[in-house]
Amino acid sequence: YVKYKPLAAKLPKKNDTVKLAAVFGLWYFQNVIFNICNKKALGLFPYPWLIASFQLLVGSLWMTGLWATKLQPFPRVNRKFLLALLGPGLFHAIGHTSACIAFTKLAVSFIHVINASEPCFSVVITALHGHFYPIHIWLSVIPIVAGCALAAVTEASFNAAGLWGALVSNVCFVLRNIYSKQSFYEYKHIDGLNLYGCISIVSLLYLIPVAVIVEGRHWLQGYQTAIAAAGSPSSFYTWVLLSGVFYHLYNQTLYQALDEISPLRFSVGDAMRRVVVIIATVIVFRNPVRPLNAVGSAMAIFGTFLYSQATAVGKKGKKKRQMITKKR
Ligand code: 3PG
Repeated sequence: YVKYKPLAAKLPKKNDTVKLAAVFGLWYFQNVIFNICNKKALGLFPYPWLIASFQLLVGSLWMTGLWATKLQPFPRVNRKFLLALLGPGLFHAIGHTSACIAFTKLAVSFIHVINASEPCFSVVITALHGHFYPIHIWLSVIPIVAGCALAAVTEASFNAAGLWGALVSNVCFVLRNIYSKQSFYEYKHIDGLNLYGCISIVSLLYLIPVAVIVEGRHWLQGYQTAIAAAGSPSSFYTWVLLSGVFYHLYNQTLYQALDEISPLRFSVGDAMRRVVVIIATVIVFRNPVRPLNAVGSAMAIFGTFLYSQATAVGKKGKKKRQMITKKR
């Protein structure tokens, strides 16, 4: 069969900037579409547990299709590997659901400013696990904290529940990354996309029963309201379906490209992605942006650049495995 080739493996050289730009461009495009469709879907049907489950279901079915058609080789799994998936799968499930809760309450642009604060959680949680980053890395997160605080106090869409959702998702994604590094240390032969596919399936299995318990009794009424608000069933289905397809697609592009992108380039590219998503969604949703809010957001995103530089010091030349540890 023809092996499904990672996008970035088609890049002739690492420094082939045109092709690298094409991969980043595709990733940004898919991510912008996901953010718009997710906001639309959750605006019509504010049940984040079900929408998050559906998005993971789309990804799981997509991966099953790739494996069944042998476009992507099926990973060799054993009991130990399945057990290793349990921790990262749990944090992925809670992290994604919390992000969807934030989407129901806050402007997408503000969510991305808060998500940019993930390095702050990373340094603290890593320290709690006994590994202390050098002082310059701690100092590099100060602009992120200051920028997020300024953006939060001046945010027009501010909502405490939404902010909690975004913060919990940050904590969960950091924990997912830490436990992925530990759990998958001995599974380096499993490629990033397969690992992501397996984590999606485990997360889905965690989420479905909890989603039914937490909000299942409201779904029917919510569905009728959503159809009425959308104007037609097909337009509601389209937003929900696109949110699921693009959630998987942007992650697939990312995980296929990760092995070819250095950690520093990835961190810088990720910060740029937030800038693109913030600008695109402010335009699409016509969110009001106060000047101080823009300053705070810019400071937070700039802080992530500083953090990338600080963490890159001493790492040069080392090829880091970034499987699911996409953030850092
Ligand atoms: C998710 O649910 O996975 C988030 O929307 C992704 O968040 P990120 O854009 O901060 O990676």
